[in-house]
Amino acid sequence: MAIIIERYNEKVLALPRNEIDTNLYLCKYQNFWYHHGFWLHSNANFSVEAIMASQDEFQALPTDVFLASQVKSGTTWLKSLGFAILNRAKFKIDKDSCAIHPLITTSPHDCVPFLESESFLNNPSYANGLMATHIPYTSLPQSIISSDCRIVYIHRNPKDVLISFWHFMNTLREDGSSPTKIDDTFELFRKGYYKASLERPNNILFLTYEKLKEDTYNEVKRLANFIGSSLTKEEEDDGSVQEIIELCSFKKLSEAHKGNKDGSQSSNGIYFRKGIVGDSVNYLTTEMIKTLDVITKEKFDEMILTS
Ligand code: A3P
Repeated sequence: MAIIIERYNEKVLALPRNEIDTNLYLCKYQNFWYHHGFWLHSNANFSVEAIMASQDEFQALPTDVFLASQVKSGTTWLKSLGFAILNRAKFKIDKDSCAIHPLITTSPHDCVPFLESESFLNNPSYANGLMATHIPYTSLPQSIISSDCRIVYIHRNPKDVLISFWHFMNTLREDGSSPTKIDDTFELFRKGYYKASLERPNNILFLTYEKLKEDTYNEVKRLANFIGSSLTKEEEDDGSVQEIIELCSFKKLSEAHKGNKDGSQSSNGIYFRKGIVGDSVNYLTTEMIKTLDVITKEKFDEMILTS
Protein backbone atom coordinates (compact mmCIF):
# COMPACT_ATOMS: atom_id res chain seq x y z
CA MET A 1 0.00 0.00 0.00
CA ALA A 2 2.94 2.29 0.65
CA ILE A 3 3.60 2.34 -3.10
CA ILE A 4 0.00 3.29 -3.84
CA ILE A 5 0.10 6.03 -1.21
CA GLU A 6 3.30 7.46 -2.70
CA ARG A 7 1.93 7.35 -6.23
CA TYR A 8 -0.92 9.67 -5.29
CA ASN A 9 1.06 12.00 -3.02
CA GLU A 10 0.86 15.04 -5.26
CA LYS A 11 -2.79 14.59 -6.10
CA VAL A 12 -3.71 14.21 -2.41
CA LEU A 13 -1.69 17.26 -1.37
CA ALA A 14 -3.77 19.38 -3.76
CA LEU A 15 -7.11 18.37 -2.17
CA PRO A 16 -9.06 20.54 0.33
CA ARG A 17 -8.28 19.49 3.93
CA ASN A 18 -10.04 19.34 7.24
CA GLU A 19 -7.62 19.05 10.17
CA ILE A 20 -8.74 16.70 12.94
CA ASP A 21 -5.62 17.21 15.00
CA THR A 22 -2.04 18.11 14.24
CA ASN A 23 -1.16 14.77 12.66
CA LEU A 24 -4.46 13.80 11.17
CA TYR A 25 -6.57 15.35 8.47
CA LEU A 26 -9.37 14.43 6.09
CA CYS A 27 -9.23 15.23 2.36
CA LYS A 28 -12.23 16.16 0.26
CA TYR A 29 -12.32 14.12 -2.92
CA GLN A 30 -15.30 14.08 -5.29
CA ASN A 31 -17.57 15.56 -2.60
CA PHE A 32 -16.70 13.11 0.20
CA TRP A 33 -14.23 13.36 3.07
CA TYR A 34 -11.61 10.61 3.37
CA HIS A 35 -8.67 9.68 5.47
CA HIS A 36 -5.35 9.86 3.77
CA GLY A 37 -3.00 6.90 3.96
CA PHE A 38 -5.08 5.56 6.85
CA TRP A 39 -4.80 1.85 7.49
CA LEU A 40 -8.04 0.69 9.10
CA HIS A 41 -7.85 -3.07 8.77
CA SER A 42 -5.51 -5.48 7.07
CA ASN A 43 -8.05 -6.42 4.43
CA ALA A 44 -9.51 -2.97 3.85
CA ASN A 45 -8.16 0.44 3.17
CA PHE A 46 -10.64 3.20 2.74
CA SER A 47 -8.13 5.94 2.19
CA VAL A 48 -8.41 8.38 -0.65
CA GLU A 49 -5.35 6.80 -2.30
CA ALA A 50 -7.04 3.37 -2.40
CA ILE A 51 -10.08 4.89 -4.07
CA MET A 52 -7.93 6.67 -6.62
CA ALA A 53 -6.04 3.44 -7.35
CA SER A 54 -9.23 1.44 -7.84
CA GLN A 55 -10.58 4.17 -10.15
CA ASP A 56 -7.39 4.00 -12.22
CA GLU A 57 -6.90 0.25 -12.25
CA PHE A 58 -10.07 -1.72 -11.68
CA GLN A 59 -11.80 -3.31 -14.68
CA ALA A 60 -15.24 -4.76 -13.90
CA LEU A 61 -16.72 -7.69 -15.78
CA PRO A 62 -20.43 -7.78 -16.65
CA THR A 63 -20.78 -10.89 -14.45
CA ASP A 64 -19.36 -9.21 -11.33
CA VAL A 65 -21.51 -8.59 -8.26
CA PHE A 66 -20.66 -5.70 -5.90
CA LEU A 67 -21.95 -5.41 -2.35
CA ALA A 68 -21.94 -1.72 -1.54
CA SER A 69 -22.47 -0.01 1.80
CA GLN A 70 -21.57 2.82 4.06
CA VAL A 71 -19.45 1.60 6.98
CA LYS A 72 -21.40 -0.01 9.86
CA SER A 73 -24.53 -0.56 7.78
CA GLY A 74 -24.52 -4.36 7.69
CA THR A 75 -21.62 -5.02 5.30
CA THR A 76 -20.49 -8.16 7.16
CA TRP A 77 -24.01 -9.60 7.08
CA LEU A 78 -24.51 -8.83 3.40
CA LYS A 79 -21.08 -10.28 2.54
CA SER A 80 -21.97 -13.46 4.44
CA LEU A 81 -25.33 -13.87 2.72
CA GLY A 82 -23.92 -13.13 -0.76
CA PHE A 83 -21.03 -15.55 -0.28
CA ALA A 84 -23.18 -18.32 1.23
CA ILE A 85 -25.77 -18.04 -1.56
CA LEU A 86 -23.35 -17.93 -4.49
CA ASN A 87 -21.12 -20.71 -3.12
CA ARG A 88 -23.73 -23.08 -1.73
CA ALA A 89 -22.89 -25.82 -4.23
CA LYS A 90 -19.17 -25.65 -3.38
CA PHE A 91 -19.48 -25.10 0.38
CA LYS A 92 -22.35 -27.07 1.86
CA ILE A 93 -24.26 -25.52 4.74
CA ASP A 94 -25.99 -28.51 6.31
CA LYS A 95 -25.36 -29.47 9.96
CA ASP A 96 -22.31 -31.64 9.17
CA SER A 97 -20.51 -29.09 6.98
CA CYS A 98 -21.47 -25.87 8.70
CA ALA A 99 -18.51 -25.86 11.12
CA ILE A 100 -15.98 -25.95 8.29
CA HIS A 101 -17.66 -23.33 6.14
CA PRO A 102 -15.20 -20.52 5.19
CA LEU A 103 -17.49 -17.93 6.82
CA ILE A 104 -16.81 -19.74 10.10
CA THR A 105 -13.21 -20.86 9.64
CA THR A 106 -11.93 -17.59 8.14
CA SER A 107 -14.17 -14.51 8.12
CA PRO A 108 -16.84 -12.89 5.93
CA HIS A 109 -14.25 -10.19 5.18
CA ASP A 110 -11.73 -12.74 3.94
CA CYS A 111 -14.40 -14.44 1.84
CA VAL A 112 -15.49 -11.24 0.08
CA PRO A 113 -12.70 -8.70 -0.42
CA PHE A 114 -13.11 -4.96 -0.52
CA LEU A 115 -12.36 -3.47 -3.89
CA GLU A 116 -10.43 -0.63 -2.22
CA SER A 117 -8.07 -2.92 -0.29
CA GLU A 118 -4.41 -3.60 -0.72
CA SER A 119 -4.73 -7.35 -1.13
CA PHE A 120 -7.42 -6.93 -3.75
CA LEU A 121 -5.66 -4.22 -5.74
CA ASN A 122 -2.56 -6.43 -5.75
CA ASN A 123 -4.45 -9.56 -6.77
CA PRO A 124 -7.91 -8.86 -8.25
CA SER A 125 -8.35 -12.47 -9.39
CA TYR A 126 -9.06 -13.81 -5.89
CA ALA A 127 -12.48 -12.18 -5.69
CA ASN A 128 -14.25 -14.71 -7.89
CA GLY A 129 -16.77 -12.19 -9.11
CA LEU A 130 -18.11 -11.17 -5.68
CA MET A 131 -16.66 -8.00 -4.17
CA ALA A 132 -17.59 -5.38 -1.62
CA THR A 133 -17.04 -1.67 -1.58
CA HIS A 134 -17.50 1.37 0.64
CA ILE A 135 -16.94 3.70 -2.32
CA PRO A 136 -19.85 6.13 -2.98
CA TYR A 137 -21.76 5.50 -6.20
CA THR A 138 -20.52 8.70 -7.79
CA SER A 139 -16.87 7.70 -7.24
CA LEU A 140 -17.04 4.06 -8.35
CA PRO A 141 -14.52 3.04 -11.01
CA GLN A 142 -16.05 3.89 -14.38
CA SER A 143 -16.04 0.27 -15.57
CA ILE A 144 -18.46 -0.70 -12.77
CA ILE A 145 -20.99 1.84 -14.00
CA SER A 146 -20.52 1.15 -17.70
CA SER A 147 -20.41 -2.65 -17.54
CA ASP A 148 -23.64 -4.52 -16.98
CA CYS A 149 -22.61 -5.81 -13.54
CA ARG A 150 -24.94 -5.86 -10.53
CA ILE A 151 -24.68 -3.85 -7.34
CA VAL A 152 -26.49 -4.57 -4.07
CA TYR A 153 -26.57 -1.62 -1.68
CA ILE A 154 -27.49 -1.97 1.99
CA HIS A 155 -28.74 1.05 3.88
CA ARG A 156 -29.14 1.38 7.66
CA ASN A 157 -30.78 3.94 9.92
CA PRO A 158 -28.09 6.67 10.23
CA LYS A 159 -28.52 6.93 14.03
CA ASP A 160 -27.72 3.23 14.47
CA VAL A 161 -24.81 3.61 12.04
CA LEU A 162 -23.48 6.47 14.11
CA ILE A 163 -23.59 4.50 17.37
CA SER A 164 -22.20 1.36 15.76
CA PHE A 165 -19.36 3.40 14.25
CA TRP A 166 -18.64 5.12 17.54
CA HIS A 167 -18.28 1.77 19.33
CA PHE A 168 -16.18 0.39 16.49
CA MET A 169 -13.74 3.31 16.58
CA ASN A 170 -13.51 3.07 20.36
CA THR A 171 -12.52 -0.58 20.03
CA LEU A 172 -9.87 0.30 17.46
CA ARG A 173 -8.59 3.19 19.54
CA GLU A 174 -7.88 0.89 22.47
CA ASP A 175 -5.31 -0.60 20.13
CA GLY A 176 -3.71 2.81 19.60
CA SER A 177 -5.35 3.56 16.24
CA SER A 178 -6.40 7.07 15.39
CA PRO A 179 -9.88 8.43 16.05
CA THR A 180 -12.13 9.51 13.25
CA LYS A 181 -15.38 11.35 12.88
CA ILE A 182 -18.61 10.79 11.05
CA ASP A 183 -20.78 13.45 9.52
CA ASP A 184 -23.87 13.60 7.40
CA THR A 185 -22.09 12.38 4.27
CA PHE A 186 -23.91 9.08 4.82
CA GLU A 187 -27.02 10.69 3.36
CA LEU A 188 -25.12 11.99 0.35
CA PHE A 189 -23.64 8.51 0.07
CA ARG A 190 -27.02 6.80 0.16
CA LYS A 191 -28.46 9.29 -2.30
CA GLY A 192 -26.13 8.10 -5.08
CA TYR A 193 -27.13 4.45 -4.75
CA TYR A 194 -30.80 5.14 -4.13
CA LYS A 195 -31.10 7.35 -7.19
CA ALA A 196 -29.17 4.83 -9.30
CA SER A 197 -31.40 1.97 -8.08
CA LEU A 198 -34.45 3.87 -9.38
CA GLU A 199 -32.78 4.57 -12.70
CA ARG A 200 -31.21 1.12 -13.18
CA PRO A 201 -33.38 -1.37 -11.24
CA ASN A 202 -31.93 -4.36 -13.09
CA ASN A 203 -28.42 -3.42 -12.04
CA ILE A 204 -28.85 -2.02 -8.55
CA LEU A 205 -30.75 -3.55 -5.64
CA PHE A 206 -31.43 -1.31 -2.64
CA LEU A 207 -31.78 -3.21 0.67
CA THR A 208 -32.13 -1.93 4.21
CA TYR A 209 -30.68 -3.46 7.37
CA GLU A 210 -34.03 -2.98 9.12
CA LYS A 211 -36.07 -4.83 6.46
CA LEU A 212 -33.45 -7.57 6.30
CA LYS A 213 -33.88 -8.02 10.07
CA GLU A 214 -37.66 -7.88 9.94
CA ASP A 215 -38.27 -10.16 6.96
CA THR A 216 -35.00 -12.04 6.53
CA TYR A 217 -36.51 -14.96 4.61
CA ASN A 218 -38.08 -12.93 1.81
CA GLU A 219 -35.26 -10.42 1.60
CA VAL A 220 -32.71 -13.23 1.25
CA LYS A 221 -34.79 -14.72 -1.58
CA ARG A 222 -34.90 -11.28 -3.24
CA LEU A 223 -31.11 -10.96 -2.84
CA ALA A 224 -30.51 -14.43 -4.32
CA ASN A 225 -32.75 -13.66 -7.31
CA PHE A 226 -30.99 -10.42 -7.97
CA ILE A 227 -27.47 -11.84 -7.86
CA GLY A 228 -28.49 -14.52 -10.34
CA SER A 229 -28.59 -17.48 -7.94
CA SER A 230 -32.29 -17.95 -7.16
CA LEU A 231 -33.25 -20.27 -4.34
CA THR A 232 -35.38 -23.10 -5.67
CA LYS A 233 -38.70 -24.39 -4.37
CA GLU A 234 -36.88 -27.55 -3.36
CA GLU A 235 -34.34 -25.55 -1.34
CA GLU A 236 -37.19 -23.76 0.37
CA ASP A 237 -38.92 -27.02 1.18
CA ASP A 238 -35.87 -28.94 2.39
CA GLY A 239 -34.75 -26.17 4.78
CA SER A 240 -31.69 -25.01 2.78
CA VAL A 241 -32.85 -21.39 2.77
CA GLN A 242 -33.19 -21.46 6.54
CA GLU A 243 -29.69 -22.98 6.80
CA ILE A 244 -28.20 -20.08 4.83
CA ILE A 245 -30.00 -17.61 7.10
CA GLU A 246 -28.79 -19.36 10.25
CA LEU A 247 -25.19 -19.64 9.04
CA CYS A 248 -25.14 -15.90 8.35
CA SER A 249 -27.03 -14.90 11.48
CA PHE A 250 -25.52 -12.57 14.04
CA LYS A 251 -25.72 -15.32 16.64
CA LYS A 252 -23.82 -17.88 14.60
CA LEU A 253 -21.12 -15.58 13.21
CA SER A 254 -20.51 -13.59 16.38
CA GLU A 255 -20.18 -16.84 18.30
CA ALA A 256 -17.70 -18.21 15.75
CA HIS A 257 -15.52 -15.10 15.84
CA LYS A 258 -15.93 -13.98 19.43
CA GLY A 259 -12.49 -15.11 20.55
CA ASN A 260 -11.04 -12.54 18.23
CA LYS A 261 -12.29 -9.21 19.45
CA ASP A 262 -9.22 -7.38 20.67
CA GLY A 263 -9.34 -4.54 18.14
CA SER A 264 -6.13 -5.70 16.47
CA GLN A 265 -5.81 -5.44 12.72
CA SER A 266 -6.34 -9.14 12.17
CA SER A 267 -9.38 -9.29 14.42
CA ASN A 268 -12.75 -10.30 12.98
CA GLY A 269 -14.70 -10.14 16.22
CA ILE A 270 -14.84 -6.33 16.05
CA TYR A 271 -17.44 -6.60 13.28
CA PHE A 272 -20.00 -8.06 15.68
CA ARG A 273 -21.43 -6.00 18.53
CA LYS A 274 -25.20 -6.23 19.13
CA GLY A 275 -26.69 -6.61 15.67
CA ILE A 276 -30.05 -5.09 16.55
CA VAL A 277 -32.27 -2.31 15.21
CA GLY A 278 -32.65 0.89 17.22
CA ASP A 279 -29.77 0.59 19.69
CA SER A 280 -29.04 4.30 19.16
CA VAL A 281 -31.91 5.23 21.54
CA ASN A 282 -29.77 3.81 24.36
CA TYR A 283 -26.98 6.31 23.65
CA LEU A 284 -28.40 9.46 22.05
CA THR A 285 -30.24 12.15 23.99
CA THR A 286 -33.67 13.31 22.80
CA GLU A 287 -32.00 16.48 21.59
CA MET A 288 -29.39 14.56 19.57
CA ILE A 289 -32.09 12.35 18.03
CA LYS A 290 -34.09 15.44 17.05
CA THR A 291 -31.08 17.05 15.41
CA LEU A 292 -30.15 13.90 13.50
CA ASP A 293 -33.77 13.41 12.40
CA VAL A 294 -33.87 16.96 11.04
CA ILE A 295 -30.63 16.43 9.11
CA THR A 296 -31.89 13.09 7.77
CA LYS A 297 -35.23 14.58 6.74
CA GLU A 298 -33.58 17.54 5.03
CA LYS A 299 -31.26 15.24 3.10
CA PHE A 300 -34.11 12.88 2.25
CA ASP A 301 -36.31 15.70 0.94
CA GLU A 302 -33.36 16.95 -1.08
CA MET A 303 -32.90 13.43 -2.41
CA ILE A 304 -36.56 13.14 -3.48
CA LEU A 305 -36.49 16.56 -5.12
CA THR A 306 -33.37 15.82 -7.11
CA SER A 307 -34.22 12.25 -8.07
P1 A3P B 1 -23.96 -2.90 15.85
O1 A3P B 1 -22.70 -2.18 16.17
O2 A3P B 1 -25.17 -1.99 15.90
O3 A3P B 1 -24.17 -4.13 16.64
P2 A3P B 1 -20.56 -3.55 9.15
O4 A3P B 1 -20.60 -5.00 8.89
O5 A3P B 1 -21.02 -2.69 7.99
O6 A3P B 1 -19.26 -3.12 9.73
O7 A3P B 1 -21.68 -3.26 10.27
C1 A3P B 1 -21.50 -3.71 11.57
C2 A3P B 1 -22.86 -3.77 12.25
O8 A3P B 1 -23.59 -4.89 11.74
C3 A3P B 1 -22.71 -3.98 13.74
O9 A3P B 1 -23.88 -3.36 14.32
C4 A3P B 1 -22.76 -5.50 13.83
O10 A3P B 1 -23.08 -5.98 15.12
C5 A3P B 1 -23.85 -5.82 12.81
N1 A3P B 1 -23.75 -7.18 12.26
C6 A3P B 1 -22.62 -7.85 11.93
N2 A3P B 1 -22.93 -9.07 11.48
C7 A3P B 1 -24.29 -9.18 11.53
C8 A3P B 1 -25.21 -10.22 11.20
N3 A3P B 1 -24.79 -11.40 10.76
N4 A3P B 1 -26.52 -9.96 11.37
C9 A3P B 1 -26.96 -8.78 11.82
N5 A3P B 1 -26.14 -7.75 12.16
C10 A3P B 1 -24.82 -7.95 12.01
